[in-house]
Amino acid sequence: MSVIKAIKNRNSGAIMADEDIDPDIIRQILDAAVCTPVHLRTNPWRFVVIRGRGRHRLGDFMVRRLTRDMAEPDSPKNIRYLEKIRKKPLRAPVIIAAAAAKPDIPQAIMREDVASVAAACQNILLAAVELNLNAIWCTGDISYDPATVEFLGFEAATELVGLIYLGHPLTEPSAKIRPTAEAFTRWLED
Ligand SMILES: Cc1cc2nc3c(=O)[nH]c(=O)nc-3n(C[C@H](O)[C@H](O)[C@H](O)COP(=O)(O)O)c2cc1C
Repeated sequence: MSVIKAIKNRNSGAIMADEDIDPDIIRQILDAAVCTPVHLRTNPWRFVVIRGRGRHRLGDFMVRRLTRDMAEPDSPKNIRYLEKIRKKPLRAPVIIAAAAAKPDIPQAIMREDVASVAAACQNILLAAVELNLNAIWCTGDISYDPATVEFLGFEAATELVGLIYLGHPLTEPSAKIRPTAEAFTRWLED
């Protein structure tokens, strides 16, 4: 498959089978992920692969975190909501948390390292196209919470860029009508 074809064929797909993904396939995906441009060789990519019981631990953490800020966590409505949250990580057999480490050289700019990790996230999504896996990049309040960074065992000041859910497809993701770039582009030529 050509690179451009893979890019154009990619669609987020969240409906996945429970069937696990071989760890060697996950390693192959991560080796592709880190093939991004990076300024000043900071190597900012940090990943945590969450699978098996790890997904339950993530769900339990999310519930604990949300419960802390709730006035009435025991109300029937909140109990139902929290049980939904607890099960969220079980939607996929594998979740890759992708994060950017704070650079330890003064010339480096965090924004650039976050950009490099965002490119790594796209590499994961494109590798998934080639490997016939469904994938979806998720964030949400939980991913911007320093407590999540700590729970995942990243160093402090690491920025979580995405939680990428991966799995064998139960249904093919629906294709989208993509815009052409014309409306978003100006040419500076003269
Ligand atoms: C930074 C980022 C965060 C996202 N967060 C979520 C999310 O929390 N939940 C979700 O369902 N999709 C999330 N998405 C996926 C988008 O919803 C998805 O890319 C969009 O619907 C377009 O579909 P496509 O990926 O098939 O082009 C996120 C995408 C990006 C780039």
